[in-house]
Parts: sequence; C-alpha cells; structure tokens
Amino acid sequence: MCGIVGAVGFISPKEYVFKGLKMLDYRGYDSAGIAYIDNGIKIYKDVGSVEHLLTIVPETINSNIMIGHTRWATHGAPTKLNTHPHLSFHKRICMVHNGVIENYKELKSFLKEKGYSFYGETDTEVVANLIDYYYLENGNILETIKRVMGLLKGSYALSIFTDDDDQTLYVAKKASPLVIGLGKGFNLVASDASPMIEYTNEFIELDDFEFGAVTKDKVVIYNKDGEEVKKEAIQKDVELISHDLKGYPHYMIKEIEEIPQTVKRLISFYFQKNKFLFDPELIKDLKESDHIIFIACGTSYHAGLVGGRYFEKYDKSASRFIASEWAFHPTYPGKKPFIIMISQSGETADLIHCLNIIKEHNLKNLIITNTGGSTLDRNCMYSLLLHSGVEVSVASTKAYVAQVTLLALLAAALDKDTKVIDDLTQALDVVYDIQYHYKPLIMKVADELKDKKNIFYLGRSFDYFLSLEASLKLKEISYIHSEAIPGGELKHGPIALIEKGIPVIVFITDPVTASSMRGNIEEVKTRGAKVYTIATKSLSRPEDTIMVEDYAYYLSSVAVSSIAFYLAYYVALAKGLNVDKPRNLAKSVTVE
Ligand code: M6R
Repeated sequence: MCGIVGAVGFISPKEYVFKGLKMLDYRGYDSAGIAYIDNGIKIYKDVGSVEHLLTIVPETINSNIMIGHTRWATHGAPTKLNTHPHLSFHKRICMVHNGVIENYKELKSFLKEKGYSFYGETDTEVVANLIDYYYLENGNILETIKRVMGLLKGSYALSIFTDDDDQTLYVAKKASPLVIGLGKGFNLVASDASPMIEYTNEFIELDDFEFGAVTKDKVVIYNKDGEEVKKEAIQKDVELISHDLKGYPHYMIKEIEEIPQTVKRLISFYFQKNKFLFDPELIKDLKESDHIIFIACGTSYHAGLVGGRYFEKYDKSASRFIASEWAFHPTYPGKKPFIIMISQSGETADLIHCLNIIKEHNLKNLIITNTGGSTLDRNCMYSLLLHSGVEVSVASTKAYVAQVTLLALLAAALDKDTKVIDDLTQALDVVYDIQYHYKPLIMKVADELKDKKNIFYLGRSFDYFLSLEASLKLKEISYIHSEAIPGGELKHGPIALIEKGIPVIVFITDPVTASSMRGNIEEVKTRGAKVYTIATKSLSRPEDTIMVEDYAYYLSSVAVSSIAFYLAYYVALAKGLNVDKPRNLAKSVTVE
C-alpha cells in the first residue's frame, strides 16, 4: 500500500523514480505522482497508472532532486487533488507519505485556526502544512521535523523537500517502512529495497521515530531526541529481491512454479547433515512454553491454522487468531505463552499492532516472514526468514507454501523428528507432478468455472485449512464468491445453498476423514452440485477429477495447494482480469 521513492544526486532522478514506481506497483495503488525542483517546486500527479503519469510529465527534467508516490486511498477518495506529492499552503514543503495519521482532524483544526486552508482531504496534506507552520516559525527544518513527529499519532514514512534546497531530501519514519539506498554521488529512498537494486546493494533501514537528511553524498540520521545515530549499512541479495518475470506472463504463475525451489531452499537453510539448524534458544523457549499462540492475517493466517496442528502433534497446545481480532481482545492462554506471528511482508499493520501489545506484556515471540529487514523482522524477539525471494503477485502462493513448510520443520525440530524431510520430499514430487501433468486439466476446469457466481470448497482437517486458502485465492483474483466449508458443517446450514449446477470442489487426501467426505459428496450431488474431486490415489475413485500420488496427509498445503493456485490463476485469466493486481487489494497491508 502506497509506495515511496526519492532520489538526490547526479543520476537521472526521473529514470530512477519512474522505474521505482513501477517496481513498487505490486503494493497496489490508484493514483501516482512526482515532484521536483526546477525553478521552483513542480508537481505532476493524477489518478491512474504510472504509465499514464509518464505521459503527462515533461520529457526532459533538469532537477537534482525528485520524490514519487503511488497512492492507495485511505483518507479521501482517489482524486487528482488527493494524489501525492502534497504541497503546503505557503508552497514551501513538498512531501509524500505512506501510513495513516490518526489525529489529522485535530491537527487540521489547529492549522485552520492559524489561517491555513486545504485543497484536498488527505491526512498527508495536514502533515505538510504542520511542517510548513513550524518551519516558518523556527527556520530549522530538522528541528521542525522532530517537533512534528512528536505531534503525530499513527504511522508514517515521509520523504520531504523544501522549496529553498534542491540538494536535500528529508525522511522520517514510524511504523511504515522506509529504506535509504547508498550510491556514489547520489542517494536514494524507497519503501523497500527492490526499486534500488539496479543502482546499489547497500542500504540503511530507518527504525521507528528516526528522521534524517539525505544529500547526494551524505546520510545523517537522528533519533527522536534529535541525537545523531550511527546506522550500519546492510547489503542485500540482489537475486532475492529481483522483479524479473523470467519469461512468464504474470508473477503469480512464475511464483507458483517457484514452489519446489522455494521448499528445497528452505529445507537447506534449516536442515543440514541430518540436523535442524534453528537457534537453540528459540527451540528452548518453544519447549518451555506451555501454549503457542499463532497470529496472522489472510493467507498467513491459513498457514497458522496448519501450523497449530503441527505443534499439537508434538504435544504443544495451540490457539490461532486473526491479528485484527486478537489486537482488540488479546488473550494469553497458559502461564508461559509463546507467540508465533506469520507475515509474508513483515509490514502488516494489524500484526504490528499485535506486536506492540505482545511487547507491553513481555511475551516471547517469533516472526516468520519473507522480508528480512521488515518492521516485524527487526522488532520481534526471534525471526525466521522464508528465503522465498520476493513475492510480487498480490495473491500469495509460494510464500504460503514456504510458511507451512517452515512451520512443519520448526515443530518437528522440537522432537528432532527428521521424518519431516522425507515427507516434504515426497510432497514435492506431487507438486512437480501437478506442474508437469495437470495444468491442461486444471485449465479445462477453470473454463467451466469462469462464469459461475458461487463456488464452494469442501474438506476436513488439513484439507479444510487448504480449502480456506483455495477459496481466498479464487475470490481474491477472480472476483467469484466462494466459501470453504468443513465437510461436517454442511448439514448445519450451508447445504441450503446447494442447488443445481453449483460447483463444489472437494479435497480428499486425509485417510481418517475420506469416507465422511465421500458422504458429503453424495449429499451435494443429490442436490444437483457439480463436484470436482481432488484425491490422493489410495483414497480416489475413478470418477474423481484429479488423482495425485499419496503423500503424508498433514502436508496437503505443500503437496496440492498448487492445484488451487493454478485454478484461481486460470479462472482469472479466462475472465481477462488483472491477475497480479486484483482490484481493491494491496500486497502489503500497511494500514489497519
Ligand atoms: O504480508 P502478510 O502475510 O502479513 O499479509 C497478510 C494478508 O494480507 C495476505 O496474506 C493476503 O491475504 C494475500 N493477498 C492473500 O493472497
């Protein structure tokens, strides 16, 4: 959600800013804009795409400094006036912002009393004017930024310049990500490292309440008391943050096909020479805890549902919560709870809210994330990285499988149960089989489903957790209403919705529940449903749609999730939809 880029120095700021905005468009946006100084502040912005923005900016821009922004509307409709960058009332402060300022209404009233007026409805314009107000008062921009940060409630990553200095970008951060890329004779700013990798592999990540000044050959960062802080530059692996489509038409299909290498890479990170390689302190803390609490959102929550079972298998009691639910009514079962948070992006605002509560209560915690250097990675007690490479498509696929794989490895490590490695290897054979043999069949099913209004997924146990994920993926990118129902719950209400021709997709991979699931199939067939069954060979029947080799059934989300992912992908494709950037959604949900 919202992407920030900024450049100062001799490289062409326009080239970087536009490439950067494109690289960040995976975050989701509805409008885009840029600003620079060339005989005064110039701003170009509009609703629509970065490509459209490019058509309205001058071909040649002579400027040493530029900021750019993709906006995902929160405060104020997606209109040209609300699009960033924003300019203050006295036209002195120009800035872009990612985050939400909770007390913007009070601050706006204060500024109105001081004679300020506003052209738009955004919280960002209020911040620009607050800086303008105090800057006029004291003439010291860094002092002003420090003062304004003390007045803001909420989250922000800010990139700012003033009308009287085309050599300095100012930055500030709280609870929204901001990274500085270090170049030779230039420096860059962005919401994450990916737009900068073409220019540098050295980065400084700002921590909360830090602010600073970035010129072409210097970066100075201060803490909230205004004391200079020495920040270590970190190096990032270019390969892992590359946005190359590698010949695929969409990121989603590329990322589905990367699942096997993702799982293999993950195993090699956390298991070598017949030994698990997790931090012994983490394993000790997990063993000593008497209850594990899983907290996450969306797809990551679905991974947490599976992970809970894995820990229960090794005698750990577990509960699972959706972050935005837990944050407002936190409960901590047990005397020594241990919290496991899961987040592909590591920037999900609902989860950051939970982390603040977890820290207030001094609870032991771990984040499982794909994004090293993200807010959750840096602020949790323990962090385990998924090493999946960047996931660009809004619909999470390889990261989900990586989350489940990592949870299986971690739970098994508690009991040094190395059988999990053989089980994962066997599950991977199924994934390959699906990739090589079943895509044409899945496309055919997708074609039958593309015009449907409602689709149901059925499963029990691990197959139910997988159904939840399959259903989310389908609705997210195909806009078809879909629900996942545990087989046993059908009769308790949902069966009322089953009518002639309604598609019901059923997973049967669990030997314990297979015969009950067959009963469910009969119940929906009798009422006219068109059933598509995905089963493992030993549980299959000739009429089933897809039969895959047997595998350890607790790994359904690894072995057969790609069937669900391909299906969602091909349905969205058949409907001519924007597979990688579905409407209303963003890759990184950085507002609550
Ligand atoms: O980055 P996170 O894993 O914390 O994101 C959580 C959800 O927003 C995310 O999983 C969302 O549900 C996906 N778009 C689903 O494909």
